[in-house]
Formats: sequence, structure tokens, C-alpha cells
Amino acid sequence: MKRVGIKELAPGMQLGEDLYFKRGGLGVPLFSRGVELTAKNIDQIQRFFSGIASILVQDAGVAGVTSSSPVEQHQSVSAPPPEAPQEERPKQALYGRQLVDGSFDKPGVDALIAATVRERPEFQYTKAKFTEYFSQVGGLLQSFSNTGTLDQQDVAELAWQVTSEFHEAPQYFDPSLLYLVQIEDWDQGTFNHSFDAAVLTLLTASRMSDQFEELTALFIAGLLHDVGKFIYSKYQLNDMDYIVKKPGGLTAEEYEQVKRHVDVEDHVGGWFEQLPTRLREQIIYGILEHHERFNGSGYLKGKSGTSISFSGRLIGVVDVYDALTRRRSYKSMVRPDDAINLLGTMAERGLFDRKIHQTFYSAMGRYPVGSVVNTTAGVAVVLRQDPRSVDAPVVVFGDSGEEVGLLGDESVRIPSGPE
Ligand SMILES: [Fe+2]
Ligand SMILES: [Fe+2]
Repeated sequence: MKRVGIKELAPGMQLGEDLYFKRGGLGVPLFSRGVELTAKNIDQIQRFFSGIASILVQDAGVAGVTSSSPVEQHQSVSAPPPEAPQEERPKQALYGRQLVDGSFDKPGVDALIAATVRERPEFQYTKAKFTEYFSQVGGLLQSFSNTGTLDQQDVAELAWQVTSEFHEAPQYFDPSLLYLVQIEDWDQGTFNHSFDAAVLTLLTASRMSDQFEELTALFIAGLLHDVGKFIYSKYQLNDMDYIVKKPGGLTAEEYEQVKRHVDVEDHVGGWFEQLPTRLREQIIYGILEHHERFNGSGYLKGKSGTSISFSGRLIGVVDVYDALTRRRSYKSMVRPDDAINLLGTMAERGLFDRKIHQTFYSAMGRYPVGSVVNTTAGVAVVLRQDPRSVDAPVVVFGDSGEEVGLLGDESVRIPSGPE
């Protein structure tokens, strides 16, 4: 193990410590010990951890410590790991502290979901709807990927159908359950991220607009935001096809190539001509501008503030959230509540439109549905938000199946929550 200056990190080095991003009293685990550094995450480390001089890396030739035991391996120079409450109650033994201690344990989460929400009708109904729509999305995007032609009419019809379902029967089509549905059938399939981004865009936008057509256009924008990746692959404009399928990390040059996926104005600029200009532009600019950042630090053009389209600003937020909670390997996935925390820090740094970020935050909650929380009465899973409070959701306990609204029950709290 040795210390390396933050500017001297190089692709291929293995992290020798967990890196926490500190916000308030909480540390968000961003990178785990044992991770092999790529150009992309070196760039992120240098931006997020610019305040620290050096980082522990493992010596070349020394077998890396895998993330299979991250709980025991916590070390951090930037901030201490979040302290899970030490009070041991019998209920906590059931799913283990690892679920609430900064690491992601998929079998544990699966067991908890099976015991708490899987049989509930609202979950089953939403899951059936998601599955149906997802298979349609998959078909449309697959055919675009095969033929290079997007059936814009079919996309618009599907968006209209999903938006109506959400509008008319939100109790049976609840986008906030997306995480639970997806994690159950966890799959790193190509179109999952597109579908997630569309659904999260719809959820957030519906709190900012009641114009049905606009919501439909924003859903389409979310669905197609990364379509440039398919375009670059299909027409072999660069090595995108190889890069997106590559299992390991990316080189700096490959990362530059990935960034070109928003450089597709020539390809998408004429899409959806049948729609009114205002709606068309939400779709086109959502594709072109979702990596621009409110403070001007994004790409491709370095636009800032409201010169970035509304859809670009909105998809920018949901895209980061989804990328964090759905990394390629579930071992490196970030818990939804940690992702929310990290987004808050990014918003404080001026990366997002504050109003849009606030809306997303209040829609998802401090602990999004599906978050595993360590309450004073044991490990529970967040079942739904309480509209009266962003940080006091309704939770369900794994062992008893008991549902508790944290706002109404003074005896149960989430001690690691914001003070
Ligand atoms: Fe993107
Ligand atoms: Fe994306």
C-alpha cells in the first residue's frame, strides 16, 4: 500500500481505501477499496476530492482486496465513514448491518423486498405495467438500433399511453416503485437506463407542469436522451460500439469518445416534425444538452443557466441519479438514499437547476422508496413517501411486516438522517 498524490493517479491503479464524499454529518461512499481506477473515475476523484492531497493505492502486484468485505475495510482520509447506530436489537440481526452500513448487498436487499413488498397489490400492478412498457421500449429501441430508423409515431404513442396511465391512475402506476421493480429483475440490459430516465423524468416533470402534451414530450426526451450512443454505434462514427460493451474501465481517449453521444444534432435535429416546435425542442435539446451543467461545467458546449433547455436541465438530474443507482456491477451500486445525498451536494455546487433539483428531491424523498434504512426499531425498507415530510417516509419491517409512518410514530426514527 502506498500514498499517491491526487494528481498522480493513473488508470489501472487499485484504490487502497474507500472514498467518502462528506455532506453534513453523512459520508456518501463513492469509490470502494479495491476498485481499479479508470480515466473517468480519476477525473471524478480529482473533482470531488480536490481538497485532499493523496490517496492510498495498492502496490502493483499485490492482489486487490475485493469489495466483498467493505464493512470491515472502511478507511477514509477525507471523512470518517457514516456511523451506523450501535444499538443492537434483535430485528437487526435478520438482514445484517451490512445493508445499512454503506455497502450494497443485493441478496440482503432481495430478501428484504421479498419479505415486505413483493406481494403487495400496488407493487404487483406497477410491476406488470413497467414490464409491459419496458418490453415495448426495448422493441422500439432495438429496432432503431438494428435499422437506424426510429419509428417516431410508435414512440409518441407509447409515451402518450404511459403518460395517460400515470395521469389517470397514479396509485396503480407509481414511478417511485421503479427501483424496487428493477432491482428485483436486476439486469444491465441496454435499455434499462433509457426507460428509467424516462419514468423519472415523467415523475419529476409532473410536479412542475400539468400540461399533458408537455409531459409526453419530456417522457420521450428521457427515453431518447442517450440515443446518440446507438447512433454512433450504428454508423460506426467512432469506437462507441466497442466502448459501450467493454467490460472494464475506459481510457481518457475512450471517455472523450463517449462524450460525443450528445453531438448528434445532424441526426436528430429533424425528428418529431409532426409535433409543435415547443415540444419538439424539448425532445431534441434533451438529447443534446443533458450533460450540460447549470454552472457551465458540462459538455458539449459548456452552456449554463437557463440557456440550457428545461429538458436538458431536468434529464441532467435524473440521469446522474440513475447512473449512480444502476452502475454496471451491483457491487459498485450506490444506495438510493446515498445517491440523493450526493445529488444534494452537486446541487449545492451549482451543477443543477435548484428548482428542478428540489422538485426531484421532494418527489423521491430523502430516503427513496426501496431504501433500506436502519431505524431505531430495526432494519426496514421504505415503502412510500409521506407527502407531509421529505425525510419521514412510511417504512415496513422485514420480520413483522409492520408498516410504520415515521411522522406519526415518535418511537421510531432513522438516527442517521439529517439532524
Ligand atoms: Fe448521456
Ligand atoms: Fe444517460
